[in-house]
Amino acid sequence: MKRLLSRLLQLVRIRLSLWKDIFYFHKLTIKYNASIHTDNDIEKMQYTLLRENHTIEKGLSLKNPRKGFGQQKVLKLLKRLNKYFDVYGKTDKEFLIYPLGTIKHYIHYTKSTGVEIPIIEREYKILMEKSGFVDVKEQGGIIQVSKDEILKKCNSSFESLLNSRHSIRYFSKETVTKDIIEKALNLAQRTPSACNRQGWHTHVFQGEESVRLIKWQGGSHGFEDEIRTSILVTANLKAFLYYEIHQAYIDGGLYAMNLINALHSLGLGTIPLSCGFTHDKLKGLADFDIPKNEVPIVIIGVGNLLENFNVAISKRKNINLTNKFH
Ligand SMILES: Cc1cc2nc3c(=O)[nH]c(=O)nc-3n(C[C@H](O)[C@H](O)[C@H](O)COP(=O)(O)O)c2cc1C
Repeated sequence: MKRLLSRLLQLVRIRLSLWKDIFYFHKLTIKYNASIHTDNDIEKMQYTLLRENHTIEKGLSLKNPRKGFGQQKVLKLLKRLNKYFDVYGKTDKEFLIYPLGTIKHYIHYTKSTGVEIPIIEREYKILMEKSGFVDVKEQGGIIQVSKDEILKKCNSSFESLLNSRHSIRYFSKETVTKDIIEKALNLAQRTPSACNRQGWHTHVFQGEESVRLIKWQGGSHGFEDEIRTSILVTANLKAFLYYEIHQAYIDGGLYAMNLINALHSLGLGTIPLSCGFTHDKLKGLADFDIPKNEVPIVIIGVGNLLENFNVAISKRKNINLTNKFH
């Protein structure tokens, strides 16, 4: 009886602690989430602008971008960049260089396909003049890379491995073999994890099943059919105790990055695809036989490289903006 009572008490304590953590996270989200009061906060505005900028870069990095694609998105981006300049231009004007570089690239590309976009050109010019930048070239958009170049760099040093990895959105028709996937999975097992619990799982999909998963994911418009191998990385909630509920995402994220680098080191192309969705959407994973106790971390699209292909530049921030020595 005494033991039963103490177990009951422990369960109540755990449930209470979980509610407190969930409530605290709810509070943090209401205050800091980028969907709420977005433009009242410079950081939220910058992050969401980077996101909008990336959809343009990503569109440019597809195999055959749709002629005249993205005009509404670019106009919307220009409107928000204008607002950014008015509100935060004095605090951090340099931020505008990267999205302006992407738009410059977009204008050049779209016109080269025979599509005239005078309104976008005019709005771009007005913002360039208003912000006082003379040129913003090579800051955004796409670059062409070759298979030869990647194969030389992907396995020669850690530095060149990191510098030569890109998200790739189209691949050759050659199938990715089970052997090479297993080799990458074995390399990724070297990932450190909290108390070496190794709570990650992987689910490999190939052919039409991979395309079905990618279509469900929804962040790959225009290149769903390219991804004929995909690896869904999950983390097992059973591996973690009540006071470390976010640890599944940390261990799973570390593992996923190692798997991406392992695949790249073996000469394959990859693209991480988000699983950051609401609970309602994630219920759809039951259709892919994913157990409920596994939370999705990321889907990794995998493929063999073409001889030449385009990738988004995806310019990185200066470390001064993301680091603080304490
Ligand atoms: C968690 C995660 C989710 C992502 N989701 C998508 C996605 O849904 N669609 C897409 O095209 N790219 C996606 N990406 C790729 C990013 O756009 C890309 O990593 C970023 O722009 C940096 O470029 P790089 O990978 O070429 O260095 C995702 C990347 C990560 C890490």
